[in-house]
Amino acid sequence: MDKGTVLIVGGAGYVGSHANKALCKGGYKTVVFDNLSRGHKEFVKWGKFFKGDLSDRKRLKACFKKYRIKAVMHFSAFAYVGESVKEPAKYYINNVANTLNLLEIMREHGVKYFIFSSTAATYGEPDKIPINEKHSQNPINPYGRTKKIIEDILKDYSNAYGLKYVALRYFNAAGADSDTEIGELHNPETHLIPLIFDAAMGKRKSIKIFGTNYKTPDGSCIRDYIHVSDLADAHIKALRNN
Ligand SMILES: NC(=O)c1ccc[n+]([C@@H]2O[C@H](COP(=O)([O-])OP(=O)(O)OC[C@H]3O[C@@H](n4cnc5c(N)ncnc54)[C@H](O)[C@@H]3O)[C@@H](O)[C@H]2O)c1
Repeated sequence: MDKGTVLIVGGAGYVGSHANKALCKGGYKTVVFDNLSRGHKEFVKWGKFFKGDLSDRKRLKACFKKYRIKAVMHFSAFAYVGESVKEPAKYYINNVANTLNLLEIMREHGVKYFIFSSTAATYGEPDKIPINEKHSQNPINPYGRTKKIIEDILKDYSNAYGLKYVALRYFNAAGADSDTEIGELHNPETHLIPLIFDAAMGKRKSIKIFGTNYKTPDGSCIRDYIHVSDLADAHIKALRNN
């Protein structure tokens, strides 16, 4: 894909803001579309900002009309597994129905390139470790299922409408921009590494590590982490090769 304007949906959040910085440093023009429900305006330090909610088709259309969007990176979603079990409707609406709004507006405007934040949670309980991308996908919670549903929709849109997409199934993103211009600021925070820092700084009394019967010396699980800036670079590579 040549360097046009990239729409970063959810670009005021943790991973999206790092991708925005990487894109702008790489010479792309960007527009961040975000409702700031879980993101931060002060993280949008590059490109343009267009406040809006993905459920609001009129607002989305206005954004596509205002900017000549060449490609979309889609980071916006609710992403707490526990919350998704308690409030699945909220997850299916924001992660599935609202993503369909976005795909439909893209189709109306002839935008063909799409990079999607999927998740390792689409794999469920792995049969084999390490998990490779051919591993079967059997998500075990509503959050994982919402992402798997979108992956299926993307396959169908690609076959029928020629959508060119990459779905990146992240494991845990960690770390922060090395210039300390942006970082990780989830509220409530559920990710392990920031929780450990909070405990070390005395902001919380303790943290709980889940799982006791994995085949590890202390029975707790082993998780894969990827640095958020490496993940941002992976998005640019995915866009270039799309
Ligand atoms: N952080 C991780 O470790 C991780 C791991 C696997 C997958 N993911 C996926 O990556 C993506 C980004 O994760 P993150 O940690 O940066 O999340 P985040 O919550 O920091 O960012 C999501 C952004 O989307 C925005 N948003 C949510 N709903 C919206 C809506 N309806 N309209 C407009 N904006 C909306 C929020 O305000 C927020 O700025 C998510 O899709 C998540 O499922 C993240």
